[in-house]
Amino acid sequence: MSIGRARKFRFIFHPPDDNFGPMAESFSKASAPPACAADGTEPPVPQAGPVPAGLRVLIPAERIAARVRELGAEIARDYAGRPLRLVGVLKGAWVFMADLVRTLEHEALSVDFLGVATYGQSAQTSGEVRVTKDLDRSIEGIDVLVVEDILDTGVTFDFLLNALRNRKPRSLRTVTLLDKPSRRVRHVRADYVGFTIPDAFVVGYGLDYSERFRELPYVAVFETLGP
Ligand code: IMP
Ligand code: MG
Repeated sequence: MSIGRARKFRFIFHPPDDNFGPMAESFSKASAPPACAADGTEPPVPQAGPVPAGLRVLIPAERIAARVRELGAEIARDYAGRPLRLVGVLKGAWVFMADLVRTLEHEALSVDFLGVATYGQSAQTSGEVRVTKDLDRSIEGIDVLVVEDILDTGVTFDFLLNALRNRKPRSLRTVTLLDKPSRRVRHVRADYVGFTIPDAFVVGYGLDYSERFRELPYVAVFETLGP
């Protein structure tokens, strides 16, 4: 009986190259996955390409990495022995959050995400905050640290903090990679700040201009718009 079943499976299995047509062709052109060296001789991390025209690097990747490690150490110390929920604010904070979480030596860490949109398609804030994705889990009775990319006018922070406070977390604090205090219209501040920056529109390391430049490993400023 079991032999018969095995035969049936063998009959319906087709090697992908024979049956996926043009798709199989594009798959087979992908580079073969490299083997990982077990002896510590890994090649260096690939560097990003040239800085896109019109942009100037404001904070290089190495400085960001060093500061993120410092923030991670500080946060781990402050929350030692207490379960901590990191709440990343999408989409801007995803790169920062991914790096931060890997520097945090903390034994009881969990993550969640909240999606908000403020800027629409331009560099001017509309002052309107729209929730595009809610938390997956309750934060009642939990120590929560909101992870943001940038604190600018403070409208988003103010909205988020009020919305999350209503859900009765045990504590609610914030970390932002960048702080642009000169443009504040609401009285809010972050508990942990990566860098204070001047009033310039920045992109990279998760931050975008009309959904572009999020992938850059550094924070850059528009030469035409910036200082
Ligand atoms: P706020 O509500 O004015 O504080 O702005 C917060 C949100 O606006 C941030 O979370 C960003 O998504 C976006 N934002 C503010 N300044 C910049 C910037 O310089 N570059 C890219 N996005 C920005
Ligand atoms: Mg944001």
